[in-house]
Amino acid sequence: MKFTFYGHACFGIETGGKKFLYDPFISANELAKDIDINSIEADYILLSHGHSDHVADVVAIAQRTNAQVIGAYEVVSWVQKQGVQNIHPLNFGSFNFEFGKVHFLPAWHSSAMPDGSYGGNPGGFLMHGGDLKYYYSGDTCLMMDMQLLPRYAKLDFAILPIGGNFTMDVDDAIIAADFIKCDKIIGVHFDTFGYIKIDHEQAKEKFKAAGKELILPKIGETITL
Ligand code: NI
Ligand code: MN
Repeated sequence: MKFTFYGHACFGIETGGKKFLYDPFISANELAKDIDINSIEADYILLSHGHSDHVADVVAIAQRTNAQVIGAYEVVSWVQKQGVQNIHPLNFGSFNFEFGKVHFLPAWHSSAMPDGSYGGNPGGFLMHGGDLKYYYSGDTCLMMDMQLLPRYAKLDFAILPIGGNFTMDVDDAIIAADFIKCDKIIGVHFDTFGYIKIDHEQAKEKFKAAGKELILPKIGETITL
């Protein structure tokens, strides 16, 4: 299973012969200027919510790759209005896709589309795809609902926001890792804007002191999990 970081909260996961792209926000991210969105392949694009720092490049990538766009009904309906036909709308619950089961779960955040239209509720994805089980919380604060996750899956790893201000910070992400019973966390949603700049070494040390691992991939880096 390969994980590629494209900056902010955008990442690709390749598993079971399929490519999954999450929350594409690349071309407007100064830190990700070396990433060419035309080089990204995807079979599925998953959107946690409608904010522009999660959907900015979805239309361009979906139209070029014909990837299926998966997300909240309101979010994918907006994407469809931009000319993307291959969509799968969700609300909170689960669905068995051909690649495995997806639970679309609540996140405590907000959601509006880049043009200000209604974006439904923000969420996160629990993936029971292939041999691996992982969770991407989307933008959220720490929340008690995360304690439900171990009932569904023994997670191999999880992707959590750690930048604070708009989402959990490092300390809350450590508690979230306890809630979801997962010791391997990939941090996202940090450094992109002034409000969410973090000290990488201190963040890793805090996780280590809690008996957990925090992975902070470089933008463009692919790691094998
Ligand atoms: Ni957001
Ligand atoms: Mn965000």
